[in-house]
Amino acid sequence: MTTPPRFVWGASTSAFQTEGAAHDDGRTDSIWDVFLRAPGRASHGDTAEVACDHYHRYAEDVALMRTLGLDAYRFSIAWPRVLPDGRGAANEAGLAFYDRLIDALLAAEIEPWLCLYHWDLPQALEALGGWQNRDIAGWFADYAALVARRYGDRVKRFATFNEPCVFTLFGYGLGWHAPGIADTAALHKAIHHVNLSHGRAVDVLRRDVAGASIGAIHNRQPCIAASDSPDDAAAALRLAAYWNDAFPVPQAFARYPSPLQDAMSPYIAPGDMADIARPVDWFGLNHYSPHYVKADGNLIGAGFSAPPADVPRSAIGWPVVPGAFRDTLLDIDSRFRLPIYVLENGTAAEDSIDASGHIQDDDRIRYLKAYAAAMEQAIAAGADVRGYFVWSLLDNFEWGAGYSQRFGIVYVDHATRRRIPKASARWYAEMIAARRALAHATLPHGLTERAAEE
Ligand code: FCB
Repeated sequence: MTTPPRFVWGASTSAFQTEGAAHDDGRTDSIWDVFLRAPGRASHGDTAEVACDHYHRYAEDVALMRTLGLDAYRFSIAWPRVLPDGRGAANEAGLAFYDRLIDALLAAEIEPWLCLYHWDLPQALEALGGWQNRDIAGWFADYAALVARRYGDRVKRFATFNEPCVFTLFGYGLGWHAPGIADTAALHKAIHHVNLSHGRAVDVLRRDVAGASIGAIHNRQPCIAASDSPDDAAAALRLAAYWNDAFPVPQAFARYPSPLQDAMSPYIAPGDMADIARPVDWFGLNHYSPHYVKADGNLIGAGFSAPPADVPRSAIGWPVVPGAFRDTLLDIDSRFRLPIYVLENGTAAEDSIDASGHIQDDDRIRYLKAYAAAMEQAIAAGADVRGYFVWSLLDNFEWGAGYSQRFGIVYVDHATRRRIPKASARWYAEMIAARRALAHATLPHGLTERAAEE
């Protein structure tokens, strides 16, 4: 057993995917609310108007987390809930929801990990150009200051962005996600302005929250050419630049990855790169599977290919390759030299309820065991991994897949919103308890963990 004594075990969700209450207490539209109103955007025309109704059921959800023995819960703030116009006047009723959630977590001894942005930009700001408008760095910094001053007395763990590579590429480059734009200049502007916003928010959080521990959350996966052809090899390098490097590299090293330098240069003003590369405390990793990449006529010249026939796939079709997780952790450790928190990992599975109301999600348990083992291999090989958060606590609104894909360790009946912990939730709880017991047992007699560390 190689997880260190103070390893953080948690679960992740996001506001848009779980909260629902889309029009309650002054929340306005995000770009995702608007995007989903057009036909064909999500499976079965699903929307997130109610989602898991976490907005009203958060107390029950925190109680569930407590029974699982989680150390931490990662959630995001819905920007249009706390700033209905995206900037300017704050909405007290929206802010008060996160007070209630944070206080309930602390009462349950679960550490809140707060992410500022998980894809739900206020539509009011999209109307002004959204991530394409350079002014957004100031709007985002003001939003970060509001959140920092309101919650920073109780929350110390802050992430600026969740998966900036995904929402920029899918939202502005390929048109698959909100706001549904496919335009080269839009993509490159969005990338740069998100990076600038990250840097500004890091400074604000550092200034306004005593003892803040700050990072960003990046999705990284090996990008493997689908064939031996030079075109596919070149496409794999291009996708890797957009997917893996477009955010962590400038944020750590104050430069864009070389395949993107020419494309980005028109948008870089003097001083920008230093403003982006502000020191952070950890690297947040989301990882599910590797990408198999082929040449494509889309605007980045790279498309997604099915994995080779012998690679197993999950219910959503994503390749299951635990070794890619181990390699990704080791690669991040050697390149970025920061403590790593895995802030999303998990799988969709074909979950069904049996006659006794039980969900025996063996596929998910197998996946989680294999990926936990891969993480331990990386730790044993020296990677500084400090925590693991499963995606997700609850079955929730899975973007374009709507409710058709279930990632939760807790089942949600989408008709009644009733929660039922799956077999994987019990497995996760037992695994956490066993490791905690082992970590205590291996400490010298009579010492608490903290005392032992000091
Ligand atoms: C990640 C997203 C998260 C969820 C999982 C399955 O890319 O950050 O919101 O949809 O995938």
